[in-house]
Amino acid sequence: MTKDLSSEKAERRWRELAQEIRRHDELYFESASPVISDSEYDALVRELAALEEAFPQFRRPDSPTQRPGGARDVSFPAFTHEAPMLSLANTYRLEDLEAFCARVASGLGVEESGDLAWSVEPKVDGVALSLHYRQGRLVNAATRGDGRSGDEVTANVYTFLNLPFELPHPLDLVLRGEAYLDRERFARLNRVREEAGEEPFANPRNLCAGTLKLLDSREVARRGLSFVTHALLGSDLSESHQGSLDVLAEMGVPVVPERRRCRGYEEVVAWVERLGGMRDGFPFEIDGAVVKLDELAGQERLGATAKSPRWGIAYKYPAEQVETVVRGITLAVGRTGAVTPVAELEPVTVSGSTVSRATLHNREELQRKDIRVGDHVIIEKGGDVIPKVLSVLADKRDGSQKAYRFPERCPSCDAPLRFSDEEVAIRCENPSCPAQLRRRLMHFVARGALDIEGLGAQWVEILVEQGLLSCFADLYTLTAEPLLAIERMGERSVAKLLEAIEGSKTRPWRRKLFALGIRHVGAETARILAARYPDLESLRAAGQEEMEKLDGVGPIVAASVADFFTREEVRRELDALAAHGFFAASAAESAGPAAASLAGRTIVVTGSFAGRSREEMTAYLRELGARVTGSVSKKTDAVLAGENPGSKVEKARALGVAVWDETRLNEELSGGGDA
Ligand code: IVH
Repeated sequence: MTKDLSSEKAERRWRELAQEIRRHDELYFESASPVISDSEYDALVRELAALEEAFPQFRRPDSPTQRPGGARDVSFPAFTHEAPMLSLANTYRLEDLEAFCARVASGLGVEESGDLAWSVEPKVDGVALSLHYRQGRLVNAATRGDGRSGDEVTANVYTFLNLPFELPHPLDLVLRGEAYLDRERFARLNRVREEAGEEPFANPRNLCAGTLKLLDSREVARRGLSFVTHALLGSDLSESHQGSLDVLAEMGVPVVPERRRCRGYEEVVAWVERLGGMRDGFPFEIDGAVVKLDELAGQERLGATAKSPRWGIAYKYPAEQVETVVRGITLAVGRTGAVTPVAELEPVTVSGSTVSRATLHNREELQRKDIRVGDHVIIEKGGDVIPKVLSVLADKRDGSQKAYRFPERCPSCDAPLRFSDEEVAIRCENPSCPAQLRRRLMHFVARGALDIEGLGAQWVEILVEQGLLSCFADLYTLTAEPLLAIERMGERSVAKLLEAIEGSKTRPWRRKLFALGIRHVGAETARILAARYPDLESLRAAGQEEMEKLDGVGPIVAASVADFFTREEVRRELDALAAHGFFAASAAESAGPAAASLAGRTIVVTGSFAGRSREEMTAYLRELGARVTGSVSKKTDAVLAGENPGSKVEKARALGVAVWDETRLNEELSGGGDA
């Protein structure tokens, strides 16, 4: 039908639709008062997409269809970089620096790399920004984004502690550099958090990235970010890179410190190593050294490949390893009953964060490494990789170490554990296991599921402990009185919490379905099922065979759903929820602002996760707007690494692609982890 439209008519319709969709976006986001249902909204987007299919010329970058995943995006205005924000080629091997210097020399037709001057400087582990000064005034600041365009975060950058907003001369400049949260502030923020009984932030970089994305600039100001410049674009303040940074420094612009002009490979390597030794002395974290050709004309001549400039390279320091002691080995019980051994460590600082636990993956790993309670061990943590126990220092054993016998029974409920040959995971199969219950409840109220504001993991723990919460339905019988008796709960927060709980009943059906925590039913599967079966009754009535036929639902998922509904405890739980009107009140609502926060990012998933299967994790990320692919390339934005991640993490590191653990993912989703 669309094909028959004349181009003129089509264009008119395109405009109408685009305008209409933008209007609904505004109603939805700015005034939080949508006037159409989600499916009506989706229908508009679909019509627009069909039009663009027929008339590709309308598919402009600003079209609502071009928002990745079709997700509504509440983020900052897009900012197109004048010159793409590239990243540097990475290496972990010093020898590669020699090859790099030789390559640059030959590219410039110089015989000896010693005839060239190199700038060797710390690689700041921050968040890349591009700052624009016009007539000496800071006018724009943008994140890297996909390199071509990022988020305009100017208002937040105006809160930076050390940036001049006005230069002494009316210059037009583009600065490239890193935003960071200094170590002291980071430590202070975490102290406050820990005192409040909250999970500490993982590391300063993630917190900085999350902070930059806050919509509330006052909060950004409160945290106190800083900036350090490492490049100046398109300006002729000097003929050399170091010279231009010197000029900037004179104007009061913060520039990368401890940079050294070196001649020849030996000098380069010597300074790279010296910088490594100075790591802890910088106000920011550094994860390597950068070597650049100092002469700007030479940089220009060499140019760049599609991904990185030919005139520079980053040498990454190896993942930091430290020694600590295993105080104990505990078992973590996941939402679906998977049981994972965890090493409880004497807390140590590794790569800028305090580590007190490391996963031991599974029983085999634990036995293979022969990790005993009381052992001295070497643990390793890269910038953002989950800490792992590398090895045991067996000579440090004094006989007091105790070999660990893997329990036969669940640490939480004492039910016999199931050790099967089919999967490495060991499971507690008791449906009323309290540990599983807690994890299920946490999942129930979490983002992506019912998203009950103010009810985080900590509160779930407390409520379960106080006997106020022993199934999902208990949430809806909570009253103010017992809550007020809990320490730190004021009237206002209790009222807000109860309101949020009541409000959760209006979540869309697919999110409720996801919240139920059916094994193998991630957010994406829940969406598919909810679209086909519009309510609990129709889903319950659908047999395994019927569900299997749905696109995106395989036999395993279908069997799991069917099995779920046959269980007595499930029937009781669902009846109780229904009695509170839980299933009656689903409002139409989209994925919502929080859920859009991975929009447009390409993510690779590797390893296994305690609370979700890999498929569930993949579906979950997709629901959040991410593009999930199978192999790591430079285009990958992040590799999400679970336990036993395999070679994808190595590849990611080699390519300079971020590696996230689940904590980091959650921080990304909560804009800094403190939501
Ligand atoms: S020079 C083409 N110098 O690390 C980018 N970058 O992939 C030229 N970084 O994108 C950047 N410290 O965000 C340069 N002293 C430094 C740096 C630095 C940190 C960041 C930058 C870059 C990434 C490397």
